[in-house]
Amino acid sequence: MTLTVAILGAGIGAQHLAAYRALPDRFRVKTICDLDATRAAPLLSAQTVHTTDLDATVTDPGIDLIDVCLPPHLHFDTTAAALKAGKHVICEKPLVPSLAETDKLQTLSQQTNRQIFPVFQYRYGPAATQFKALQAAGLTGKAHVATLETHWNRDAAYYATPWRGTWAGENGGAILTHAIHIHDWLTYALGPVAQVTALLATGVNRIDVEDCAALTLKMANGALVTSSVTLGAATDTTRIRLVFEGLTATSGTDPYAPANAAWTFTARAPTTQAQIENVLAKTPSPPDGYIGFFQAISDHLRGTPAQIVTLADARHALELITAIYASARGGQPVDLPLPNSHPMYQGWGPPDHPIFGD
Ligand SMILES: NC(=O)c1ccc[n+]([C@@H]2O[C@H](COP(=O)([O-])OP(=O)(O)OC[C@H]3O[C@@H](n4cnc5c(N)ncnc54)[C@H](O)[C@@H]3O)[C@@H](O)[C@H]2O)c1
Repeated sequence: MTLTVAILGAGIGAQHLAAYRALPDRFRVKTICDLDATRAAPLLSAQTVHTTDLDATVTDPGIDLIDVCLPPHLHFDTTAAALKAGKHVICEKPLVPSLAETDKLQTLSQQTNRQIFPVFQYRYGPAATQFKALQAAGLTGKAHVATLETHWNRDAAYYATPWRGTWAGENGGAILTHAIHIHDWLTYALGPVAQVTALLATGVNRIDVEDCAALTLKMANGALVTSSVTLGAATDTTRIRLVFEGLTATSGTDPYAPANAAWTFTARAPTTQAQIENVLAKTPSPPDGYIGFFQAISDHLRGTPAQIVTLADARHALELITAIYASARGGQPVDLPLPNSHPMYQGWGPPDHPIFGD
């Protein structure tokens, strides 16, 4: 089954297109929808045409899968319209700016029997497969601590795009747009977060939202985690270090594909390095990033078991973001899961910038 795709948004959508084109037996991109024809132009081919008509694209009967690569404030309405038109949806992070909207999409997905695949492409790549294989082999044991670094460089040129850096357009700052990936990776590796304490600051750029953060997290499995986030680093570096009873896992520093960079897995007695090497030697090297992500979706829709990102995964990421903003504003640790009666269930925007329902 080849899925016919429309990509909405030609920014990061260009990278999505490259990944679909690397999987030609699984996907055919029929349409690039973008208000900006000059941005779409380099992406077109005999197979792939341009339109500016979002409504017509979302309801096109010739499309199976709508891929939402639009600015965040357009994600909810577009995803809802696509589900109602009978399409499966891939939606870039952050899926939506509230738990309430996530739950509405969940209901709509059930009612329409169409699926939403939230984007977390950092989960895909050889190192993620190795890590999961070591976990499955029982070699990691109890998780003690982890450290996370999202140390990236974003300047005024990056924030010249009007929707960025604003509550209304971006719906949040570095916690939402940048560190969402590493925190998803954390929960992919260790399971859900049980408590967070957060300090946030806007220190690098003249923007409305945060661009630095220091977080401490307690995981439901008892592990303790620190996460450091800034957009004022000299270079772009993502780093993950997970300390388990049986081994210590240390990522490379590739900022946007941490599961593609070489990781080290160092045994701690009584686990031996030979046991680790034995598992790694048998572990395949799947494609990373968007190719791995799209391949898993294609397998899943063909009925082949695959490691997909679920709506529940996106909900937990957004629940953590809600809790981070609640902790930073309240100056207190916040426990998860959050009840639907939580004052920020409808959105985490500050009181003068409510994102949802304003
Ligand atoms: N997963 C990742 O690693 C990753 C990386 C970058 C961006 N993103 C996410 O992707 C989304 C888009 O980010 P971006 O950097 O590509 O933004 P961008 O502003 O560079 O591109 C968005 C495009 O959408 C078009 N657009 C806006 N409104 C439209 C409308 N109504 N109809 C048709 N086209 C419209 C714009 O013309 C623009 O070309 C954001 O949610 C962002 O957080 C994810």
